Amino acid sequence: MTTITADEFSVLSKYIYSICGVALDSTKTYLVETRLKSMMQKYGCASYLDLHAKAKADRSGNMEKEIVNAITTNETLFFRDASPFEVFKHKILPDLIDARSKSVSGRNIPLRIWSAACSTGQEVYSIAIALREALGNLNNFQISILGTDISDEAVTKASYGKYNKFEIERGLPLQTLNKYFTLQGDGWKIRDEIRAMAVFKKFNLMKPFAGLGKFDIVFCRNVAIYFTPADKKMVFEKIASVLEPDGSLIIGSTESLTGVTGMFEAKRYMRSIFYQPVPGSSPQTPTGFTYAQTPVPALAGTAASVVRPPLPAPRPVPVAAPRPTPRAVPAPVGASGASPAPQPVPVAPAPMERPVAPAPAAAVAQQAPPSEEAPRPVAPRPTPVRSQPAQVYRAGDKSELKRLLMQKKQKGQS
Ligand SMILES: C[S@@+](CC[C@H](N)C(=O)[O-])C[C@H]1O[C@@H](n2cnc3c(N)ncnc32)[C@H](O)[C@@H]1O
Repeated sequence: MTTITADEFSVLSKYIYSICGVALDSTKTYLVETRLKSMMQKYGCASYLDLHAKAKADRSGNMEKEIVNAITTNETLFFRDASPFEVFKHKILPDLIDARSKSVSGRNIPLRIWSAACSTGQEVYSIAIALREALGNLNNFQISILGTDISDEAVTKASYGKYNKFEIERGLPLQTLNKYFTLQGDGWKIRDEIRAMAVFKKFNLMKPFAGLGKFDIVFCRNVAIYFTPADKKMVFEKIASVLEPDGSLIIGSTESLTGVTGMFEAKRYMRSIFYQPVPGSSPQTPTGFTYAQTPVPALAGTAASVVRPPLPAPRPVPVAAPRPTPRAVPAPVGASGASPAPQPVPVAPAPMERPVAPAPAAAVAQQAPPSEEAPRPVAPRPTPVRSQPAQVYRAGDKSELKRLLMQKKQKGQS
C-alpha cells in the first residue's frame, strides 16, 4: 500500500479543511491514509499528491464528494446519550409549546427543529419519535424537522430510513422498534408517519446559513469536535442567528460552549445542559416570535435532498390548544415509556444491505473531545427529583391545560 508522506498529508489536510472544515493534525495521518486508500486504487493514483491533483481537477465534483464521504466520521446511534432527549421532551418542548400556544391563537403550533449534522438519520428519527411519544397525536402541531449533513452518502441513507441489525441494536428499545419501524428484507425501515416529519438535505456548516429560516430547537452534536476553535465559534454563532430568541440548542454530551462563544447561556435541567441565546447577543436575532412572518420555507431541492410527504391537513385549534399532562417521573430512556435500556432486537441474522462495521480505532479516537474543552459552567448535577414537574403536553386534554394555566396565573400573581 502506498504510504502518505508528511508533505502529502500537509497538502491533503489543507484540502480537506477547505472542502468540509474538518481540521486534521498530524496524529490523523494514518486515518487519512486508510480512508483514502480505496480512492487511490479506484482512480489509479500513483501517490496521495496525485489523488489531490485529480480531485482538484475533477470538475464534476464527484471526487471531492467521495473524499468528504471517506473522511467524515458518521458515527451515530438512536437516542445517543439519552439525556438530551429527556430534556427535549420534558423541558424544552413543554416550555416552547407553552410560549407558542399564546402566540398562534387558533392555528396549529409550529415547531421547527434542525439536526445540524444528522449523519445517517438516527438523531432525526430519535427526535421525531420523542415528539410522537411526548405529544401523542400531532394534529395540533405543524412540525418540521430538518436533517442536514455534509456527507451525501449519509444524507441519502438518512432519507431512506432503513437500518441494519447492528444499527438497530444501538439505542433502540424493542418496544420503540416495534412501534415505529417495519421489518423490510434484511433491515428495519422507519414507518411513513415518522419519515413524513422530516426533510433531509446536504448542507455544509462552513457555508452561510442564509435561506435556512428560523428554528426553535437545534441539535448540533458531535460535529464541532472536528472543527478549529475559530470555526466552532463561527458555527455556533451562526446557529444563534437562526435560533428563535427563546429557542434551544443541544450539543454533544462531551462538548461545551464555555470559552467558545458568549452568545449562548447554559441552562440545566436535571442531568442535562442545553443552551439558549443570550438575549440581544446576536445582531441577527429577531425581536420576537417570527412564525407569522416566516413560514416554514420550502427547501430547495438538491441531488441529495428529499422533500417530505405532506403532513396531515392543519386542524383548527382552540386558543388554549395543547394540554400539559403533568408527569411525576420522566419517561425512561429511549422514549418508549417502558424500556429503561436498549434491548436486543429480534432481527433474523440476514446479510445486511449496508453493513456498518464498528468504527476503527482511529475513527473512534477522533470522537474524543479536544482536551482544551473547558468544564461546563454549572454546579454539580443534582440527583433527579422524582416529583419534579416533567410536563408533557397531550393535545386534546383541555381541562388539565386550563387547570395548569390557572395555577401558573395564580403563581404569577402571588
Ligand atoms: C459523529 S457524526 C454526529 C452525528 C449525530 N449528530 C450524532 O451526534 O450522533 C458527525 C457528522 O458531522 C458531519 N459533518 C462533518 N463536517 C461537517 C460540515 N462541515 N457540515 C455538516 N456536517 C458535517 C459528518 O458527515 C458526520 O455525519
